[in-house]
Amino acid sequence: MPVIMPIFGTRPEAIKMAPIVIALQESPDFDCFVTVTGQHREMLDQVNDLFGIVPDHDLNILQPGQSLSAIMTRTIDGLDKLFATTKPDAVIVQGDTTTSTAGAIAAFYHGIPVVHVEAGLRSGDLFSPFPEEANRKITSQIASLHLAPTSVSKGNLLAEGVREEDVVVSGNSVIDALLTTVGKEIPFSDPQLEELAASGRRILLVTTHRRENQGDAMRGVGRALARIADADPELVIVLPAHKNPIVREAVLPAIEGKPNVIVTEPLAYGEFTRMLSLAHIVLTDSGGVQEEAPSLGKPVLVMRDNTERPEAVDAGTVTLIGTDEHRIVTEVQRLLNDQDHFDTMANAVNPYGDGRAAERTVAAIAELLGTGKRIGEFGLASNEKVFTS
Ligand code: UD1
Ligand code: UDP
Repeated sequence: MPVIMPIFGTRPEAIKMAPIVIALQESPDFDCFVTVTGQHREMLDQVNDLFGIVPDHDLNILQPGQSLSAIMTRTIDGLDKLFATTKPDAVIVQGDTTTSTAGAIAAFYHGIPVVHVEAGLRSGDLFSPFPEEANRKITSQIASLHLAPTSVSKGNLLAEGVREEDVVVSGNSVIDALLTTVGKEIPFSDPQLEELAASGRRILLVTTHRRENQGDAMRGVGRALARIADADPELVIVLPAHKNPIVREAVLPAIEGKPNVIVTEPLAYGEFTRMLSLAHIVLTDSGGVQEEAPSLGKPVLVMRDNTERPEAVDAGTVTLIGTDEHRIVTEVQRLLNDQDHFDTMANAVNPYGDGRAAERTVAAIAELLGTGKRIGEFGLASNEKVFTS
């Protein structure tokens, strides 16, 4: 039976790979051998625990303050050794992290076909997001099968010369993952959050971590949050802080101790999606959150100058606002105070998937390996509301 090896290492990869791993494990046609790099540790394990995924192999590469080169070389070196004894029929990598590209390169060097999930996202700026735009372009050069989440991402691949027969529009598996948790009222482990949920107060949910925002821009985000909190004592800001100490040192000093700001550890995925559904407004620089929040009808302000996810911007649910402190304050306050503006953005749209991405991915892998056939793609007909806020 063909052996498929999903390789992943960070929180977003784990979330988006989970539905695919589960579909492979349930399939009678494949053996699934899960390899994690451990680029993230706590944030990776948290997701695997939730989805009941026990890695078959763990490269355990995380070093505090790790450089991009260290992630790349430690992953390639670890996989090189693994492939000497365990050679899968195909590997799956997801997205644009350095784990993902290193996994693709290591497999390519061993002559193992690379399946790229979430292929074809492009911001058009090689340096933003950094290093993700470069990572995903490199992976596109060496992948044998490209699972594009939307027709926009498929178009990007074709424009770069990828053969149409190697691309499948699958939808994004983050929507499969979201569907497993949303609406389940998963209890918060932090009692402050349970109290907040019961209070009915308006919530501004914030996440930030992007490498290119670290430093001055992120300190500005902290100051903007402090001003927003001071100006509206009834509002509660919830910030599940990324584990990266560089992020915490930049953002937290300006907001710590404020009565209407709750800073938490990273929330388990089910708790985070519940908080997302309770939120009034979402302020983020995350990729995955840009995909999930529109499905829940939440206005999303994205602290970036560009995005590789234009679909929800076009739908009017996401606005790119950059990282200028004054602009962040103004845009959040406009949403808080201008009901018409809020209503225009609070539109449940679902351009990123319909919950069947994992199924399409497994079928496409079967076709790649000559053991099955693809199924219908994610397309306009399924681009419809599947959630209500
Ligand atoms: C990585 C990805 C980024 C993705 C993000 C998701 C790259 C280059 N970056 O960025 O594309 O959007 O993950 O969150 O692949 N740390 C821990 N424990 C953890 C996780 C992180 O201690 O569970 C700390 C470590 O000190 C580590 C630092 O955070 O050095 C940064 O982690 P790293 O994976 O290098 O970068 P991210 O900014 O998380
Ligand atoms: N997320 C989570 N707990 C949190 C914050 C985020 O489970 O405390 C989830 C979120 O639902 C999304 C993913 O993590 O699916 C996004 O991860 P991140 O922002 O770290 O990475 P990116 O998507 O920007 O690569």
